Amino acid sequence: MIEIVTELPALRTRVGEWKNAGLRIGFVPTLGNLHAGHHSLIALARTHADRVVASVFVNPTQFGPNEDYARYPRTPEADAAGLEAAGCDLLWMPSLETMYPYGANGAVRMRVPGITDVLDGAHRPGHFDGVATVVTRLFNQVQPDVAAFGRKDYQQLAVLRYLVRDLGFPIELLAATTLREADGLAMSSRNQYLSAEERQRAPEIHRTLLAMRDAAVARRPLGEIEAEASRRLQAAGFEVDYSVIRAPDLIEPAHVDGGSLVSLIAARLGRTRLIDNLEFTLA
Ligand code: PAF
Repeated sequence: MIEIVTELPALRTRVGEWKNAGLRIGFVPTLGNLHAGHHSLIALARTHADRVVASVFVNPTQFGPNEDYARYPRTPEADAAGLEAAGCDLLWMPSLETMYPYGANGAVRMRVPGITDVLDGAHRPGHFDGVATVVTRLFNQVQPDVAAFGRKDYQQLAVLRYLVRDLGFPIELLAATTLREADGLAMSSRNQYLSAEERQRAPEIHRTLLAMRDAAVARRPLGEIEAEASRRLQAAGFEVDYSVIRAPDLIEPAHVDGGSLVSLIAARLGRTRLIDNLEFTLA
């Protein structure tokens, strides 16, 4: 049976017992409304740990004023059942007061420089500061040995790698492969906001990422590839925030003379903002 914990002393007691018994703790932080992609993170953490903790906390500090904090789906019973089936041992569900005793506005904030200024950092000002702020708190609360995150949130993973290294957290970060629907759409809690007609069009993001990769492999100029991707998405009804090819650190410009690259897209269908990426290597 999964244990559901909502108070910090109870969390510390249970994790302390496990640590005293010499057990390794794996951790999967989430916003809740879990799907198969999250369950695969539990499975990944399991392969590196003896006990797995997941958190469900809809974090207000990472949502912008016009974003979907209030309407973000809260489904705690279904989340607990899915986590238990996926092999999670403990569900950490802190209240807003436990996470932010001085309230979200009074909270001490983290700020990761550089990487948070580009792409989603530029389009969603403050978003990654909010993610870094809550993940720092969650790491302090849970004190895991390993933590698993999805590769779909490519830039988030880069921000968290920076955070862990800079603050010296003794935590290994695991990156899980993106799970996709049969038509290529990356699994995301936000997919459920799509109308039936938008859902039909949404896989165009993945198809465009594949086309960008193929064009880069064919050594077409990157600027041309990015502009073409943007036109293609607009023609399919998307409002495009970015469609780019970058070096893996997201800051250095990409080169077509070999090595690892990543193509990334953020685009809106109606009110729903979707992101996805594709990592590839040029021979
Ligand atoms: O990726 C997410 O679900 C969230 O950004 C995270 C890491 C749980 C922080 O709230």
